[in-house]
Amino acid sequence: MSSQTTSLLPASAVIDRRQFLAAALVTGAVSALAGPLEAAPAPDAALDALVARMTVAEKAGQLHMEAALSYRQAEPAVAQFNPFVPPVTPQQARAQFAEQLARIRAGGVGWIMTPMDVESMILGQKAAVQQSRLKIPVLFAADIIHSDRTVFPVPLAEAASFDPDLARRTARACAVEASARGLDAAFAPMVDVGRDQRWGRVVEGAGEDVLLARLFAAARVAGFQGKLGAADSLLACVKHFAAYGAGESGLDYQGNALSERVLHEVYLPPFQAAFDAGALLVMAAFNTVDGVPATGNRHLLTEILRDQMGFGGAVISDFRSEEELIAHGQAEDGADAVRLALNAGCDVGMVSGLFPLHIPALVAQGAISLATLDRAVGRVLRVKQAAGLFADPFRRLDPARSRRPAPPAHRELAREAAIKSIVLLRNEGGLLPLRAGPRIALVGPFGPDADNCHGPWSTFTPDAPPVSLEQGLRAALPDPALLTVAPGCAIDAALPGGIEAARATAQNADVVILALGESQRMSGESSSRVDIVIPPAQQALAEAMAATGKPLVVVLRHGRALALKGAVREAPALLAGWFLGTETGHALAAVLLGKVSPSGRLPVTFPQATGQEPYYYARESSGRPASGAPDELFKSHFIGLSDAPLYPFGHGLTYGDVRYGPVQAARAGEGVVVSASVTNAGSRAVEEVAQCYLHDVASEVVQPVQKLVAFEKLALAPGETRTARFAITPAMLAHLDQACHVVAGSGAFDFWIAPAARTGTPARIDVGRPT
Ligand code: BGC
Repeated sequence: MSSQTTSLLPASAVIDRRQFLAAALVTGAVSALAGPLEAAPAPDAALDALVARMTVAEKAGQLHMEAALSYRQAEPAVAQFNPFVPPVTPQQARAQFAEQLARIRAGGVGWIMTPMDVESMILGQKAAVQQSRLKIPVLFAADIIHSDRTVFPVPLAEAASFDPDLARRTARACAVEASARGLDAAFAPMVDVGRDQRWGRVVEGAGEDVLLARLFAAARVAGFQGKLGAADSLLACVKHFAAYGAGESGLDYQGNALSERVLHEVYLPPFQAAFDAGALLVMAAFNTVDGVPATGNRHLLTEILRDQMGFGGAVISDFRSEEELIAHGQAEDGADAVRLALNAGCDVGMVSGLFPLHIPALVAQGAISLATLDRAVGRVLRVKQAAGLFADPFRRLDPARSRRPAPPAHRELAREAAIKSIVLLRNEGGLLPLRAGPRIALVGPFGPDADNCHGPWSTFTPDAPPVSLEQGLRAALPDPALLTVAPGCAIDAALPGGIEAARATAQNADVVILALGESQRMSGESSSRVDIVIPPAQQALAEAMAATGKPLVVVLRHGRALALKGAVREAPALLAGWFLGTETGHALAAVLLGKVSPSGRLPVTFPQATGQEPYYYARESSGRPASGAPDELFKSHFIGLSDAPLYPFGHGLTYGDVRYGPVQAARAGEGVVVSASVTNAGSRAVEEVAQCYLHDVASEVVQPVQKLVAFEKLALAPGETRTARFAITPAMLAHLDQACHVVAGSGAFDFWIAPAARTGTPARIDVGRPT
């Protein structure tokens, strides 16, 4: 039995705001994940002395991140990895690279992003530590989100495992692979809470829930960093600070008007979890928060981030976000943008070049104080020290190591992670797993497709191409001739004769596996969707397949929750298959053919219609809650639609038959113990995720209708009963008032132990009043 259970806080009901933000991390399981990392590197007199020796231009250089150049940039194998550099001839590549080396030698560059060839990186590092005046190493960083040589499932998929330690292990594997290519830092994890499924970047985080986001944030930081400073450690750069996921109407780069309270209750806790796990870098977000762009937001980057949350590391901008202060209308020009960003607490400018261009004059004019500049430079140097770069700037720059393929264990881990990410949404009549011997028609564009297995942010060349669903099924079936394949349509368009061919294929089969969904281009940055449905050409194919009368198993590929309609929604069996990476086909085949029982749970609510977005289970209580009927007047629902989700957060079936007993709740010290029996009445062993939700029945600030406070993965043999028991701490019962003061929970609370949100019957108990 693996466990993410919670334990009681020390017997004190007095909780400060920092503790509140970090409430989940008092659990034994998670502090063990976080490891013995320091919250911030200790001050170091030698680094202060180094800062004292630097010219203002050299200081500005340390605050500047450039896109990597390579003398091999003209080679397609290198060029494809560096989207920031326009196509060049070999002569131009050499000339530009020489210019970058000259800037490094002059002390004008502190950071290099998205490098791809270790030979150029070595030359760059030599220019820094052997040929520059102060010999300060450069730091290499890139977007290692879920892949390097091995592509693991996208982060949202991994969150469906409800297994933070799995995410720690895949982040560790990514770090081992990427550090071997010379990288010192990853622009990851993204810990933005994603509550609007129209937003394309939901795919990069852990979904809609605060607890899940906290646990996965801490786990991923621990995984990337391993032992800080080691040759296989990657510094984690947590992003995007803050509330990037709360953009109005799910539109990327759009701002939000969040209250300070919601910011603290929902959007900041995953960052606090990441900092407590040892993250030393954070990326400022593109968006505004309550009218002020995050990158030029002193309240956010200094008062909240440093003074309240205790962050001691360095803040970097997000790809020119300091320059974007001009487009936002906060800054008048480039110099003004640098003044605003640096004074707000943004230490490093990514790519724009504005920091080195304007800092010297701004300091001379007194618009930026030397103390502010020195503080930023000191933070950067301490981060470089924590990465081990002063001790050995070449520790990750080893050409032989960079060419070694990933260890075989990473491929096994990719399969394990993919299997654990799959969610069985529906299984009418026990259609799945497919019994031995049926003739299978694999229909839909994602059957043979191998171009959309990885999902967004798989920027680097993997060791092996991904395994398509078709390949996975062929490898797993006793007789591959049982499988016939017909794409039926393209992802976004009909194919001439496609539906007819698919119909003929289906008619000669016993069961149709319909592989539908989104291309990887439909998820990720700049990929908000106005309607989160299956594209029309695929929907038409699904209707045609349903009309054949053959049993339909729908396998979805997607980077967000979808609003499923018609034949897709009604298909008797439905799997959420996300973007699963290298091992896509093998993992899906293992679940479809019953080698394993599915164990994933939805980290995002599936709505009935896009218009319900943002639609998440932890909504605040309405004064006119809907009863469930689609046609009642003067209640909180859309015309003609019940307020129910299609599938709630936390939902996921197994191949067993899991039943929950009634919930028991009892006071225990200053907290509560909640328990329920969980029985597997089926004939297959399963892993069941028992989830504990609470609701504060009455408080001066309206509380969410439900809040996940703990969960436990129970391994249940056929016929086995176990007790899910959760210790509810005062911190879990607390909330914030409008002034963001922590208020201890009191009076009546409802507690659920259930297989999903919005499911089951709660037990009510009075938790008393704090003394
Ligand atoms: C994204 C970041 C990413 C950066 C560097 C930006 O556009 O918002 O998440 O780390 O680019 O690639």
